[in-house]
Amino acid sequence: MPAALVRRATPADALRLAELRFVFRSDFGEVTEAREAFVARASAWVRARLAVAESDARWLCWVAERDGAVVGNVWLQLLEKLPNPLAEPELHGYVTNFYVVPEARSGGLGTALLDELLAEARRRELDRIVLWPTARSRALYARHGFATTDGILELRPR
Ligand SMILES: CC(C)(COP(=O)(O)OP(=O)(O)OC[C@H]1O[C@@H](n2cnc3c(N)ncnc32)[C@H](O)[C@@H]1OP(=O)(O)O)[C@@H](O)C(=O)NCCC(=O)NCCS
Repeated sequence: MPAALVRRATPADALRLAELRFVFRSDFGEVTEAREAFVARASAWVRARLAVAESDARWLCWVAERDGAVVGNVWLQLLEKLPNPLAEPELHGYVTNFYVVPEARSGGLGTALLDELLAEARRRELDRIVLWPTARSRALYARHGFATTDGILELRPR
């Protein structure tokens, strides 16, 4: 077995993915939900999304494994556009929850995860792919062709 690999996630990864989600998001502010409750809620959410048949799936996830353990993940949400009479793709993509545990960083796993996601995005002929980067991850996204644009307006209604 290779030491590191990237593969599509399955419902069997739900618990580990929920644990990683908790660790990832806990870095961004004050946690208001107990870890155990969050992991139960998030793993049910993940399991349900990853159990959807491939043809209907709206959430796709890739995991990075090192020595048999899942140490990272990235998600792609497929966003439906309205039917279009032009020769224009009818799905956008939203990239989220891109995370590799600190001990496994800077060894290329993040790049490998993003490469797999973008290969799938090309295969599905997505129209546009959007994401909100952290400051430090901008260079990695830029290396994969992402660029800032003045074509998007954002409002946080809360
Ligand atoms: C972003 C992340 C998934 C990349 O994983 P990785 O396995 O380290 O990626 P690679 O080894 O393929 O590439 C390394 C690149 O990741 C970026 N990176 C490194 N450490 C990072 C960190 N702590 N946070 C964000 N990006 C980081 C850098 O661009 C780095 O390349 P550079 O130093 O030459 O600029 C990982 O660093 C991470 O989980 N960071 C914290 C969470 C995060 O910021 N996620 C992005 C949300 S938009």
